[in-house]
Formats: sequence, structure tokens, C-alpha cells
Amino acid sequence: MDYQQAQDFLAAHRQSHLLKYYETLSPEQQTCLLKQIDGLDLDRPQFRDLSALEQKRGKFEPLGALTLEEIKKDAARYREIGLEAIRTGKVGAVLLAGGQGSRLGFTHPKGMFNIGKTRNLYIFECLIENLKRVTDEAGAYVPLLIMTSKDNDAETRAFFQTHHYFGYSAGHVLFFQQETEPAIAENGKILMKSPSEIVLTPNGNGGWFSSMQRAGLLKKINEFGVEWLNVFAVDNVLQQIADPLFIGATIASGCISGSKVVSKAAPDERVGVLCLEDGKPSIVEYYEMTEEMRTLRNADGTLAYRFGVILNYLFRVDALMKTLGSDFPLHVAHKKIPYLGEDGKTLIHPEAPNAYKFETLVLDMVHMQESCLAFEVDRSKEFAPVKNATGVDSVETAQALLEQNGVVL
Ligand code: UTP
Repeated sequence: MDYQQAQDFLAAHRQSHLLKYYETLSPEQQTCLLKQIDGLDLDRPQFRDLSALEQKRGKFEPLGALTLEEIKKDAARYREIGLEAIRTGKVGAVLLAGGQGSRLGFTHPKGMFNIGKTRNLYIFECLIENLKRVTDEAGAYVPLLIMTSKDNDAETRAFFQTHHYFGYSAGHVLFFQQETEPAIAENGKILMKSPSEIVLTPNGNGGWFSSMQRAGLLKKINEFGVEWLNVFAVDNVLQQIADPLFIGATIASGCISGSKVVSKAAPDERVGVLCLEDGKPSIVEYYEMTEEMRTLRNADGTLAYRFGVILNYLFRVDALMKTLGSDFPLHVAHKKIPYLGEDGKTLIHPEAPNAYKFETLVLDMVHMQESCLAFEVDRSKEFAPVKNATGVDSVETAQALLEQNGVVL
């Protein structure tokens, strides 16, 4: 795309401001900017009308889970099935670490956060320790695919290298980068971060499978013979990865996917709930639930919409391959996004949300599956999210839970 083409293209989409500083740029910067503009697909709805992104939801119904008591009864069988799948190389794990962690306010990749008190204990290290417990028991490594973002990729890779992969097999750790989306201001204009750069933000955790494929790693795991992928978030320090019980129970259930869930503490707890939507597995967000859904009870008095998701899913690779090329719903997030000021020099750091970023979500992938086993886990043993610096789901609450589980901080 040359300058004239870029000018026409942007004018037709009311984004001409992206060329405002063109004349002041070096030839390299000009080429770089034109390349970014060429990569924009401005016919997509988010550049025309945000309301077009609103999702129409179907008919929700409750979905039961394999409960803690039921799991306990069959634990030995599930464990053996799970360990066998790991031993025979059928299981891979995917760590979603491409987020921006803006609520934590840590300027490095979230996994580099040191959650120790008297010693260094990084979030990445915690997760690897959890995974190693399983691979030690199975006597086999699980390929670990780590999704990073354009912004945190180099730092994440370097951190793992410096720390010798925290004792995990370096040959079994594979990194890939997720895609990005341009961010837009409240007036619909694409933001710039410098006179030659558009603001590109990570496009949410839903794109992990297609990003993995684009990076050539799908081919690789197919060659390894991986049949199941356990996808999990970076920020739950009690996360059980490649959990043989979970894998075994999902395989035994005949379902093509599984989700770890926790029993909600109260009807109004702010957690997405695994349910059925138009007969298919789905996740309803807490703010989408009506009062009736929130308080509906089963005959035994338990909440009908009881099982909250913790971002730990198991997917079958062959089923995921069918989702490639599908259009994921795009979710809009109103965020504080730094942008280039009017003077064309200063990067402004807003104090309040000023712009929109666009994300696909892994939970929408669950709705693309024909079936999903809800697998209940004990939240005090498996759920310690680090989302905020203080308060709810914070460093302090996660530290307390780690200590409760015998981890020396
Ligand atoms: P969150 O929804 O907590 O988002 O991510 P975040 O960006 O990490 O944090 P905030 O909202 O800015 O505070 C849940 C999981 O999904 C991953 C995160 O790294 C985390 O493991 N994620 C999120 C991605 O991998 N990519 C994304 O674009 C967003």
C-alpha cells in the first residue's frame, strides 16, 4: 500500500488522522506506518458501530457437575485414566499469559510477579511447580505451550531462560504470540501511540488456538500425538495443571471438553457460571443472570446455577480444529489506554477509562463444543486468583491461600 492508497482507504473509513504526522517521519517509519495501515480491516463492525457487537444470548438452562463427592468415589479410576493419557503423550497444556494485567498494576508479565514473602516465588514458578508434581508422578513431560503478547513476549521468554524453566524440561516449553487488535477512542478514532505507531492491544484469550496454529505449533502438537489440551490462566497460583483426575474424568465421561468449576459461595457471587445455552455448553456471566436465575434452587436446596468457572478447561484437539475459521464474538472492554497527545510528542496516561479494546474470550470456545463435563474442585485448594493489588482476588488473598495449602512463602 502506498501513501495515496492509504490516504484514500483511511478517508473512506474516517480514520485519516493516522497519517497526520506522515511528513515528519523517516522513510523507515513511513514504511512501517503504511504496513500497519495495510493490515487494518476497517470494514469490521467495531470500526462502524459498537452496538453491532452486542451479543444475542439464547435460552439458558442449568447444567449439573460431577461433584466433589462423586469424583472421590471414582478417584482411583479417573487418576489412572488421566495418568495413562499423560504417559502416552496425549496431553498438552496451554498457559494463557498474553493479558495486560492492568488491574494488578505490575509493569512486567504477570507471571513474573513475585508472590513470595521471605523468598522469591514467582507466579510462573508456582505454576511450573504444580505441573511438575503431575509430570513427576506420571514419569513423562507434558508439552507446555505459553501464549504471550507482542508486548510481553521477549520478557517472558528471557525470564524462563534465566530461571532455567524452573526445573521443567526446556524442550517441552513452546512459546507463541497472540494476535492484536487496534484500540479506539470513545469517538471511534483509532488511537496512536507515536506518530508512526497505532495502539495495538492483545486480542483476548479466545484467539489462543488460531494463534497457536499460525505459529506452526498445531502441526507440532499433532506430530507429538497430543489429543487433549488443558488451557489455563496465568493468575491462579493454586492452578492444578494437567490434573490426572480431571483428564481421566473427562475422558471417562465421553464429553469432548471439560471445565473445572467451583461451587458458588453465594447467589450474587461475581463469577461466570457453566450452563446450557440453547442446549449447548455455555458460560453465563454474573451480570447477564436474571434475579430468578441467580436464586433458582434445585429440589435439594442447592443453587441451580451453581458452578462457577475458574478458567481451567480441557479441549479435544480434533474438536478445536473444527472451530478454526469460525467467527468468535468480539467483546468490548472500556479501559485506560495510553495514547499520543495533540502535540504529537507526549504519551498521555489517562486516569480513567478513555478507550475501547476488543477481545475474543476462551469461554466462547466452550459454546462451540458439543458437550462439556463440569468437574467440581475445592476452591480453597485450587482457586487463588491474583487479579488486583489489594482487596478481593489480590496478592494478599492468594498468599493466604497458598500458605493454607502448605506453600512456604
Ligand atoms: P484477564 O481477563 O484477567 O485479563 O485474563 P488481564 O489482561 O490478564 O488482566 P486485566 O483485566 O488487565 O487486569 C485472564 C487470563 O487470560 C489471559 C491472561 O493472561 C490471564 O491468564 N489473557 C487475557 C490472554 O492471554 N490474552 C489476553 O488478551 C487477555
